[in-house]
Amino acid sequence: MLTLSDSFGRVATDLRVSLTDRCNLRCSYCMPPEGLEWLPKPDLLTADEIVRLVTVGVERLGITEVRYTGGEPLLRRELVEIVARTSALRPTPQVSLTTNGIGLARLAAPLAEAGLHRVNVSLDTLDRETFKRLAHRDRLADVLDGMAAADAAGLRPVKVNTVLMRGINDHEAVALLHYCLERGYELRFIEQMPLDAQHGWRRENMVTADEILARLRDSFDLTDDDPVERGSAPAELFLVGGGPARVGVIGSVTRPFCGACDRVRITADGQVRNCLFATDESDLRAALRSGAGDDEIAERWLAAVKIKKAGHGIDDPAFLQPSRPMSAIGG
Ligand code: 5AD
Ligand code: SF4
Repeated sequence: MLTLSDSFGRVATDLRVSLTDRCNLRCSYCMPPEGLEWLPKPDLLTADEIVRLVTVGVERLGITEVRYTGGEPLLRRELVEIVARTSALRPTPQVSLTTNGIGLARLAAPLAEAGLHRVNVSLDTLDRETFKRLAHRDRLADVLDGMAAADAAGLRPVKVNTVLMRGINDHEAVALLHYCLERGYELRFIEQMPLDAQHGWRRENMVTADEILARLRDSFDLTDDDPVERGSAPAELFLVGGGPARVGVIGSVTRPFCGACDRVRITADGQVRNCLFATDESDLRAALRSGAGDDEIAERWLAAVKIKKAGHGIDDPAFLQPSRPMSAIGG
């Protein structure tokens, strides 16, 4: 089998596919309150096109993990079908979902039945008013119900992603960890990255991995989990109270893991992105729609990964935020 390798010897095996750029929340680190101009429907890949690309990735290019993202992937009507078709591929990939949890209460069981292995749910606060302020919608209860439903459906352990923002929710780190520990969810704190459509990211508002760890250590006993296990996973994992419970801290900005990155992304409109922060994309949708065969699709995809840069360069003075926001790229 061919592999999606770049000029630095990294091999992409983890494919993230955005199913829609739309979302029913407006998290401030992602979108402005009024939303964005969504991609026109004809620009989105159809379910068949998505499955075709994923099939090429899994069957010919060594993709072993497929994660569906958005925007909010639960808004994509064909999601259960897409998951079922993905988990029927051989060799069987790990199939997971990154979601804000709204709608998961209804969809967790059908998704598990369709072969979904895991979910990552975004949860930044346990306070209803803070949620409204942060996400501009009054949906905290739906998110918490969605997480419980995922757990009940066997999508375990439910992973929870939290972005802390100074003066908004950074005082909730300990409470969030308690909440997750009590329910057997695995929490990861993610440093805020410059990916919001409004370009409002400021380094001084970013709560760093060091700060997060210091806050947690005031209340919990944290020990390094087996570092061998980190592999290419971005989270530094810590055992809480000696384990087995764990908490992760993802220092995307201050502790970049680009050197071990094994990810490649496809946007909702069918562009390969070799990095979240890539400034160029490669158009697989055009190839699909002009009748390209699997060989040609694979070749274009290989070429797009080949030119992946060494790192995201957020610390470089010449750093340019990608022109597309997170919701259009896919987490
Ligand atoms: N910085 C860090 N994490 C982000 N996410 C979305 N935007 C950002 C950002 N600017 C997270 C969401 C979700 C996942 C897809 O990425 O919280 O959990
Ligand atoms: Fe929606 Fe996720 Fe963006 Fe929040 S971060 S607005 S849940 S796409």
